[in-house]
Amino acid sequence: MTSSLPNRALRRLIRELRWWYYLAMSDNTPRVDRATRLQPTLTTGAGSITLQRCTLGYFPSSGYWNGHCYLEAREATAEIVVADGVFLNNGATLVAERSSIRIDSDCLIGPWVQIYDSDFHALAPELRTSGRHPCAPVHLERNVFVGASVIILKGVTIGHNSVIGAGSVVINDIPPQTIAAGNPARVIRSL
Ligand SMILES: CC(C)(COP(=O)(O)OP(=O)(O)OC[C@H]1O[C@@H](n2cnc3c(N)ncnc32)[C@H](O)[C@@H]1OP(=O)(O)O)[C@@H](O)C(=O)NCCC(=O)NCCS
Repeated sequence: MTSSLPNRALRRLIRELRWWYYLAMSDNTPRVDRATRLQPTLTTGAGSITLQRCTLGYFPSSGYWNGHCYLEAREATAEIVVADGVFLNNGATLVAERSSIRIDSDCLIGPWVQIYDSDFHALAPELRTSGRHPCAPVHLERNVFVGASVIILKGVTIGHNSVIGAGSVVINDIPPQTIAAGNPARVIRSL
């Protein structure tokens, strides 16, 4: 069934309202903002966010209407950099607590991907909420393709041109020009 004119107008209105709502909720203005925001995006934290000529969100794709992109550079030392030509699909969550998340040019990031530079809690039971836990930079080199619902954890570098299979949890570096998948992600083969 094709949508009628009132439906189309209503959809446009809802899209606009959602877009402005997440902008209003944002307390971090990116240092550089050349992004095309197709999906509502929330930028927050005391650190630095740089969005080169990238695209945030995708239509049509899962999570377009009910999700948003979430970019948090939590503490003053935290940094998020998204380079030219990167596509971040819907529902992307990037949280750099104290170090950095860098996504180099032309990376393709699938829907519902989460990238963290921190565990956010210490492992020792008595220190769990002490804030004494390590952070380590995450780096996706150019032209990496990350499948849907992947989680990338602190300290990981993914080498250029590599592919990460859907649903993977990446805890170690992945060499360039490889396909890796699974939990934890392991190299399946070279490209
Ligand atoms: C990783 C991927 C690219 C591999 O594709 P492929 O080269 O055709 O791989 P195959 O299907 O031949 O599988 C090769 C091996 O990897 C394993 N594998 C493939 N994808 C996997 C995944 N996502 N998680 C875990 N293991 C995976 C297979 O089980 C197989 O293992 P085996 O050799 O022990 O049987 C693909 O499976 C994938 O996950 N694509 C991502 C799609 C996506 O999320 N797109 C985003 C939408 S924008």
